[in-house]
Order: sequence, then structure tokens, then C-alpha cells
Amino acid sequence: MNATKDEAAIRNALQEGMAHHDAGRLDEAAAIYRRLLEAFPRRPEPMVLLAAIAHAAGRPAEAVELLTRAIAIFPGNAAYHHRLGLALEDLSRLDEALLAHANAIGLGDVAGARAGFGRSFALAGRMPRDARLITFVVHALAQAWIRPADLAGSAIALVRASPLLHDSIESARRGELAPPAVDALLARREVVEALSHPLLVAILENTQACDWGLERFLAAVRASLLRSAAAGRDRPELLFIACAIARQCFLDDYAYATSAEESREAAALAERLVAAAHGGKPVSDVALAVLASYVPLGSCGWPAGFTQVARPPALWALLVQQIVEPDKERELAASIPRLGAISDEASLRVQRQYEQSPYPRWVRLAAAQPIAFDVQVRALFPEIAPAALAPGAVTEVLVAGCGTGQESMEIAQGIASSRVLAIDLSLASLAYAKRKAIEAGVANVEYAQADILAFESPRAFDFVSSVGVLHHLRDPLEGWRRLAALVKPGGFMQVGLYSELGRRDLEPARALIAKRGWKAEPGDIRRARSEILSSPEFARVAALRDMYGLNECRDLLFHVEEHRYRLSQVKAMAESLGLKPLGLAVPGPVARAFHARFGAARANDLDAWDEYERAHPETFSGMYVLWLRKP
Ligand SMILES: C[S@@+](CC[C@H](N)C(=O)[O-])C[C@H]1O[C@@H](n2cnc3c(N)ncnc32)[C@H](O)[C@@H]1O
Repeated sequence: MNATKDEAAIRNALQEGMAHHDAGRLDEAAAIYRRLLEAFPRRPEPMVLLAAIAHAAGRPAEAVELLTRAIAIFPGNAAYHHRLGLALEDLSRLDEALLAHANAIGLGDVAGARAGFGRSFALAGRMPRDARLITFVVHALAQAWIRPADLAGSAIALVRASPLLHDSIESARRGELAPPAVDALLARREVVEALSHPLLVAILENTQACDWGLERFLAAVRASLLRSAAAGRDRPELLFIACAIARQCFLDDYAYATSAEESREAAALAERLVAAAHGGKPVSDVALAVLASYVPLGSCGWPAGFTQVARPPALWALLVQQIVEPDKERELAASIPRLGAISDEASLRVQRQYEQSPYPRWVRLAAAQPIAFDVQVRALFPEIAPAALAPGAVTEVLVAGCGTGQESMEIAQGIASSRVLAIDLSLASLAYAKRKAIEAGVANVEYAQADILAFESPRAFDFVSSVGVLHHLRDPLEGWRRLAALVKPGGFMQVGLYSELGRRDLEPARALIAKRGWKAEPGDIRRARSEILSSPEFARVAALRDMYGLNECRDLLFHVEEHRYRLSQVKAMAESLGLKPLGLAVPGPVARAFHARFGAARANDLDAWDEYERAHPETFSGMYVLWLRKP
């Protein structure tokens, strides 16, 4: 009887507290929760609600303490673990955050726990060798809990820790893994199993494997497979590995260094297999996969109906990647409209680059929960408080310079009730984007070919995003001005621009390229990569993910048009356009370090960020991503 009375009293108090909480009367809510906790010290609910208040008020340590107590009493609630994970992330206690999110995932499907696991894993860079967690990493890559490219570095660190592969990868990195040693490795069943491990396969199929040692090791395996195929030795037990390597090679646009002998053998293999196919003779599965790791199968000239022959699933997926999907893109390119002329001389040069080398190559769209745009802006910039969107209102978005569509599709999925128009110079990139949007069922994005400098826009926008684009224009400020003119009053912009300081490490690499006379064509880019990635003096360049794809490396080191800025210049440009900076998008640890030094209130102060960048010049090695508002 008493217990029932207590329960009713607890429920009433919780309801009263939550009514205050929801209305933003946090002191009143906290007082009720605290009283409840004093009367019933083993009830987890007031602890969790107090933790929510503490965390939102910027006291994550207090939230961790309360949530840990709640979980000790009631370990079976997935949401408690997820909230603990979020608070631990804010304390940069990433190993523990990873485990907390993993516990949440293990207990049920809490929205955000998978992304939380992905974020913590990507930043922590290490993890206990626990089979359950490794399975989560495989799923995180294959299902894109966050962008697979963000998981690659940490996932590769796990692969490298494998006792069976570690020493060979290290020898390969030093250039000391001789062909007979590779052949001997591939003759060992346990090594074949390690190479077929779902973690390595998930990396190779879903993102560029950004590690020089692993790349050289896989290149050595590829060469061994080619030697066998050239000698007519069929090794069906290696089909799976050959397919995974070929998927990777296509994804990195055939960036691996290739010896003259390999090129000859691959060309001869192509001739032999294509002739067999035209002659109606069987084509070996493994040999086909090996060939696909040297040249895209779509370029070989197979007879009609070649992709209709029944093949093992791994090989079929390879044929889809290299023949079916590029065919589809060629077909889709014809359906993409053009909005305005493309005649600026620099734009034409830039267009040529991205027609040949679309950027970036990506496989799977990161999962996203649609959230109303005003809610997102308020979460990013609490002091802004844009008016709530009218019910049923559509958020109009322009993505200017969308490349292969990853950013535009994330926006289309992530902003509830949005309609996205995404433009780019490069038809090849747009066709890739459109194919991906159709595959992912993202219906609220349209693609059009246009030059920002001459774009004839059909409408104005609530939000314009242009990341990594304006610095490739002949006159970036003019491009920015044209985009700003398309923003509705009170609307928002996200602009990504290269940092002079952030990119200073690239200068010696560019000087080497100039000295060697290397051109922006595949052979020379491969040569440049090999020399740069092998030299310890370029260690910081080797750490950049863009080094691990041919197109991305061209974008990074061989660009035909590139401008870089100091934050003081960015500030002056924004001012001249009448735009108000709101802040820079940075990872959690950077935001926390900035707040600790300058206070959260100065997040929109570009002078403060300039000072921060001088002290931490690597902060914007990617670029500045600045949010602005049009008054
Ligand atoms: C480095 S990619 C960035 C793609 C995408 N925003 C992202 O972050 O993944 C730059 C893209 O900008 C496009 N671009 C460059 N100049 C442009 C212009 N004047 N008008 C439209 N697109 C342009 C290029 O074609 C290329 O696809």
C-alpha cells in the first residue's frame, strides 16, 4: 500500500519537474528532482534528469557522475548509457564514451548511439581488442554510422594490430617485403583468413584505406595475384581478397604505384580475358578480379551481356561497381539540366579537372535523423534563436559546388522538410551524385550543372552551403557575393575556405612536384604519392586522407586554381558582403579548447579564432568552415 503511494508521489513529482524542465525553468525543475532524490536515493529517474540539466548547462562531469550512479542502480536502460556516452565525449574521455555507446547499442536501438560510437571510435583511435566492439566497427563502416572515411584511420589501426599482418605491413611500409615473401604469406591459410577478415574487407569496400604501410602491403599482394593470374594459375581461395582489393583500387582511382612489368602483365591479361569472353570461352573469376585491381573493368571492351553471366557475389559486386554503375552514370548525365553559361576561363580549367577526377569518391551515405533547420541552428548557435519555421514550411537549400553529392545528400537527409538544389561544374561528379541519390532514395535533392559565377538560380534560399569550392574560383569574393545574393534575408550560409596556415605543410610537397616536373596526370600523381608518402620529411602530408586517392591527391597537390586565406581576410570578405559570422564548425575537442581559452561567448569572434589558430596551426588543415547569417 505504502509502496503504491510512494510510486504515485514519485510520478507526480517527476511530472511536475518535467513540466518546468520542458518550459525552460531549469532551477525549479532541478529543485524538484533534488528533493525527490533525497527522499528516494535509489531512484534513477531524478538522477538522469538532473544529469540532463547539468550536461546542457556545460557541466558534463556532473552529468557523468549522476548517470554512472543511475546505471549502477538500473543497468538495463540503453538511453542512460547513450547519455553517459555523450557526456564522456564532452570530457574527451573517448575510450569510456565508446564503451558507453556500445552498451547502449547492445541494449537497444537508441537514436544517436551508433553515431556516438562512430564519433568516439574515430577520435579515440584505439580500442580494446574485444570481438563485440570489432563487430560494431565493421557495421559502422558497412552501414555508415558516420562517414566511413572518418572511421578509416582508427579501423586501420585495428587491422595493423593483427599479429598475423602487423610485421608484413611494416616490412611493406619500409619497402622490404620481397615478392617471394608475399607468395609465401598467401600460401598460409591463416594469413588468407586474416586478409579476408570482415574488418579489412569493410574498410576496403567502403572507404579509401589511408595508410601507406597497408597500401604497400596490399599492392604487394595485388602483384602476387597478378603473377599467378599471368601464369594461368587459378587460385579460387583468393577470390574474396582479390575482389576486395579491386574494389579498393577502383575507389582510390588506381592510386597504387605500378611497375612497368605489372603494367605489361595486366595489359596482356586484359587482352587474354577479353579475347576469351568474345570467343565465348570461360573467363576465370579470380583473373577477372585481379584485372579489376589494375584497370576499371568498364574500360576493357567486353562483349554485350558480359555482366549477365552468373558470378559469385563478391565478383558480381565488383562488376556492378566497375561496369554497371559507370554505365548508369553516363545515362544519367544526359538528364542533368544546365543553369547558365560556363565560359569563365578559370572555371573551364577547373571543370576539366573535375570531369577527369570527380571529388570525392565515396560509397555509403552516413545515416542521419532529419531535424528541423531552426532547431539545428539553435543547437549550433544558442544565442541566435531564429524564428521557428511555420508548420509545413519547406527549407530551401542551395549546395554550390556539390562535387559527387555526399554533402548535398547529407543535408537533404539531415534537414527535415528541405528541398535541396545542388550545382557543380562537373557533369561526371553530378552524375555520380544523382546515381547515389537515386540508390539511397533521397528524393528531395535535384542536381544541375552551373558555374557559380553565372548561375541562373530559379529561387532564393534559406541556407546556402559552399564547402571547399570558392577558393577554386578565379575571383572567390565575386562567387561568394553571387551566392550571398541568393540567401533570403535572415537566412544562413556555410562557407568552407582554405587556410594559409593550415595548408603550409603542403608547400614543400608542391615544391618537390615542381622540381620533378610532375604533371597532373595519373602516372605522375602516382610517382608523386610514392615519393612523398615514403619520405619521413613529409609525415604530416602523409597523414592527410586526401593523399590516398588519385583524384583526391590531384585536388590536394595538383590543383589548377587555388586561393588560401588568413582569418583576418575571411572576416574582411564577410564584412564587405554584409554577412555576420556566427562561428566555425570544428570537432568537439577543438571547440572545448577554444571555449576554455576564450569563453563560449567569443565563438563568433574571428580575431579570437585567428589567435587560436596561430597557437594551433594544424587546426584548419582541412579548411575553415564558417557559418554566417544575412541580416
Ligand atoms: C573539392 S570539391 C568539393 C565538393 C563538395 N563541396 C564537398 O565538400 O565534398 C570542389 C567542387 O567545386 C566545384 N566547383 C569549382 N568551381 C566551381 C564553380 N565556379 N561553380 C560551380 N562549381 C564549382 C568543382 O567542380 C568540384 O566538384
